[in-house]
Amino acid sequence: LNYHVPRTRREILEILLKGLRRLEYRGYDSAGVGIDGGNSKEWETNSKTIQLIKQRGKVKALDEEIHKQQDIDMEVEFDVHLGIAHTRWATHGVPSPVNSHPQRSDKCNEFIVIHNGIITNYKDLRKFLESKGYEFESETDTETIAKLVKYMYDNREGDDISFATLVERVTQQLEGAFALVFKSLHYPGEAVVTRRGGPLLIGVRSDHKLSTDHIPVLYRSTGKDKKPCASMPRMDQDTCLFPVDEKAVEYYFASDASAVIEHTNRVIFLEDDDVAAVTEGRLSIHRIKRTAGDHPARAIQTLQMELQQIMKGNYSSFMQKEIFEQPESVVNTMRGRLNFEDNTVTLGGLKDHIKEIQRCRRLILIACGTSYHAGVATRQVLEELTELPVMVELASDFLDRNTPVFRDDVCFFISQSGETADSLMALRYCKERGALTVGVTNTVGSSISRETDCGVHINAGPEIGVASTKAYTSQFVALIMFALLMCDDRISMQPRRREIIQGLRVLPDLIKEVLSLDDEIQSLATELYQQKSVLIMGRGYHYATCLEGALKIKEITYMHSEGILAGELKHGPLALVDKLMPVIMIIMRDHTYIKCQNALQQVVARQGRPIVICDKDDYETVKTSSRTIRVPHCVDCLQGILSVIPLQLLSFHLAVLRGYDVDCPRNLAKSVTVE
Ligand code: G6P
Repeated sequence: LNYHVPRTRREILEILLKGLRRLEYRGYDSAGVGIDGGNSKEWETNSKTIQLIKQRGKVKALDEEIHKQQDIDMEVEFDVHLGIAHTRWATHGVPSPVNSHPQRSDKCNEFIVIHNGIITNYKDLRKFLESKGYEFESETDTETIAKLVKYMYDNREGDDISFATLVERVTQQLEGAFALVFKSLHYPGEAVVTRRGGPLLIGVRSDHKLSTDHIPVLYRSTGKDKKPCASMPRMDQDTCLFPVDEKAVEYYFASDASAVIEHTNRVIFLEDDDVAAVTEGRLSIHRIKRTAGDHPARAIQTLQMELQQIMKGNYSSFMQKEIFEQPESVVNTMRGRLNFEDNTVTLGGLKDHIKEIQRCRRLILIACGTSYHAGVATRQVLEELTELPVMVELASDFLDRNTPVFRDDVCFFISQSGETADSLMALRYCKERGALTVGVTNTVGSSISRETDCGVHINAGPEIGVASTKAYTSQFVALIMFALLMCDDRISMQPRRREIIQGLRVLPDLIKEVLSLDDEIQSLATELYQQKSVLIMGRGYHYATCLEGALKIKEITYMHSEGILAGELKHGPLALVDKLMPVIMIIMRDHTYIKCQNALQQVVARQGRPIVICDKDDYETVKTSSRTIRVPHCVDCLQGILSVIPLQLLSFHLAVLRGYDVDCPRNLAKSVTVE
């Protein structure tokens, strides 16, 4: 929303499309924009219109569609304008222009809305609205929101209802998860946004000094007052970001910071059920009532993110860039936290809770996808160094089982985005049961980092490729640092601690060495890319590598791939092995070495010709294998970082050779904010 910042329609559309491209990793099956139609003068008379342009496919398709529109005057200038845009990952209704967002209230586009999340009671709402004569055009849950806001508007009492009040009344009827942005013909130049369960932030750009660094929250009623008054409190100078005089300001509303960072690094993260409104250029934040524990203001934070962090640079894809960033990203995870001279670990985010964690009865690591694999990868060393039982759980299954959780449990939520709905639900479940909750996320200000009692930011930098790579290795390192911290005063553990800390010191160089195998791995990919299946086998510290490698291959190459625990080979998977089936085995010189060698023999005896990822000086394995990828040796519990990188590279090259879009695999999204 630009306020007293003159912008041509071309500029407005460019800002919106660029923002969508930055967010495309969140979903990319269709996209749309809603902007003011006509020219700016018409908005002063009464002939205003809102124009919607929507298209199936990626943002590029929308861009082309916009440029096909002959009747849009691109050079017309708006002094005040709100444009909204959305890129979709379908939950209700197939990808198509009519199911894309913005969704509208009626053919005149009186109200339009964009939505992330799911409205679970949309069928009831739709039935109600249909009974009132509303005709639906899409299959989406979102359309009910657009129709409901018009219904509330048409049935308002009195004339002076604010846009924010209207939206608040709508959200009171909604069940499910959402982040919403509204635009209306009835409230030109005004924006209202709200969230419950979906991330939403507001970027503020102004050449003027902001009059405050906190926006106080306005309550419609106090906790005692059960009957809220009819409208929101009026805004005044104290409650708004800017003084009343007409200063130029631009607001950006987005699901994450990558969409706004090139315009501003000053952002406000909204809380669930906040309704934020911009009227006459001034931002205010409203809530229905004050409840215990509410923070009475929202801070304007300055983000450290740099634009170049979210650009591809010289790489062909974000995933490739992120794989090659790992020598630096693991350093960033360790920065300021590890002292290699005196072998100490400091994790500021856990400082106040570490004693309590040390006294707990068990650790439960809860996550989804790749983040879950980071838990599997570090479980053994956590058990060893903490001497506590450690459970590793997939968030969805953990909830399905109604898993017993106790007050003396410590529950970790590992999540790159910090927004994954299943993990967030599991977090709330554990909090309700009184457990201490710890976040391990890559996103400052994310729901998981805000709702946990304490935590560790992995500081890997923005990860944009849908297939997670550098976040995995940084989560791995962060969890190891936690394990080290847990036993820092245990004398018997000191030799092991020193060994691991010194391993972390050399890790970045060892990662570089693994990355130098890229050409070799590319040539392996040329031999494998036409295959249907790939099996990946290993055990102990490398079971997680098998799961993660197989997930990478599935996600971006669409080949069937399975990560198999080598100990289970003889209980079923061996039946899949023959001379044609590609098998990758991970055999490292640790306590499972002999058992892995046995598995290798079992595969070879079935005419399998495994490709083995092994220690570079393991001449025995090299001698008996048809093909090896030789990686440098590291302390056993960190070796999983070095064994997974060849599989990240392999999946990348396989996807490229198969002609797929590495960063935007079909049917997937980076951040799954629906259950
Ligand atoms: C999605 C992504 C995966 C990711 C998983 C968990 O499925 O495509 O790459 O591992 O979500 O995401 P989180 O942000 O919680 O780590």
